[in-house]
Amino acid sequence: MILITGGAGFIGGNFVLDWLKVPGNEGIINLDKLTYAGNLATLGSLRDDPRHIFVHGDIGDKELVSNLLKQYQPRAIINFAAESHVDRSIHGPGEFIQTNIVGTFNLLECAREYWDGLKGSEKSQFRFHHVSTDEVYGSLSATDPAFSETNPYEPNSPYSASKAASDHLVRAWFHTYGLPVVTTNCSNNYGPYHFPEKLIPLVILNAINGKPLPIYGDGQQIRDWLYVGDHCTAIREVLAKGVLGETYNIGGWNEKANLEVVKTICKILDELKPRNDGKSYAEQITFVKDRPGHDRRYAIDASKIERELGWRPAETFDSGIRKTVQWYLDNPKWIEGVVSGSYRDWLQKQYN
Ligand code: NAD
Ligand code: TYD
Repeated sequence: MILITGGAGFIGGNFVLDWLKVPGNEGIINLDKLTYAGNLATLGSLRDDPRHIFVHGDIGDKELVSNLLKQYQPRAIINFAAESHVDRSIHGPGEFIQTNIVGTFNLLECAREYWDGLKGSEKSQFRFHHVSTDEVYGSLSATDPAFSETNPYEPNSPYSASKAASDHLVRAWFHTYGLPVVTTNCSNNYGPYHFPEKLIPLVILNAINGKPLPIYGDGQQIRDWLYVGDHCTAIREVLAKGVLGETYNIGGWNEKANLEVVKTICKILDELKPRNDGKSYAEQITFVKDRPGHDRRYAIDASKIERELGWRPAETFDSGIRKTVQWYLDNPKWIEGVVSGSYRDWLQKQYN
């Protein structure tokens, strides 16, 4: 078995679905707290699949995590669980400290105790894979080279600071205790099952619901977009072949300004689901107040993972974004399930 945390969220959910499609892969224990961002509907196709064991719980619960490790004896832990939304971290950082830092600390301690008790190949082959973000490196100017694994950590938001802290803990557990860890730092993901508070799914849903498409500031902030399925293949490669104690940057070689991303989505929607009045969805673009401390540019240099492990993304931005827009048009049931009262409260709080 492998133990996944946060497997009812966006990336963890895609990872679980993709993992269980690969013939010969072992089963998954999926530990998830089911915060607003966790959604069991994402895993609906696995309801009767005995290879998927869902456990509702918190990575910060020592007794629960220790018992799961004892009971299922996983050969690896992949830690996706986190509070992941920068804007929410600005409104309320407390949960980010609790889950991303204290929760990861607890997971590391439970993993260490479990790994200490393993013997032979079970011990030498065990892996703790920590899933992190490029946001730990801070913000780039227009002319800076992309982030490499040796960039200093300069996090600017409560979210990125809490992820940076968790990365440091993982590193320390390797150097101090010898826990066999690997860490991946990935750029912005997009794709199916993405909670519609993040830019791409928010814009798709607001567009088809006739609402404004909010662009923070001048819309010239740059992100390096990666299709979520490509992130999942990269994690599988690092888990299988990554060197212990190393970190690997994962990115899509797809730097785009936010305004360009939103205009691209509008264009695709104009073609796939034209507005009744014949006008473009781009008419709904609205510039709103900028995010405090908004990082200007992220870009990943993903050459290490390509050189050492042979991984490159399969999707271009054009192919991935088209698939993504089509997925949201084809899955109104999943959307209905996530657009709850608490989601509406969030929109009210953030966009007034
Ligand atoms: P998400 O917010 O969609 O999902 C997070 C999941 O973790 C949810 O299912 C939630 O219920 C669960 N969770 C939260 N707190 C928990 C706790 N205390 N115990 C157990 N489960 C808990 O996030 P995501 O976008 O899928 O991101 C997954 C990981 O990838 C995160 O660690 C994030 O920092 C990292 N990451 C995300 C992106 C991105 O673009 N989304 C990019 C790079 C890295
Ligand atoms: P987001 O999806 O929240 O990811 P992150 O902040 O982790 O990069 O935002 C992506 C970019 O889009 C970021 O520069 C902020 C911007 N953005 C908007 O312009 N409008 C919005 O309504 C949202 C949610 C984000």
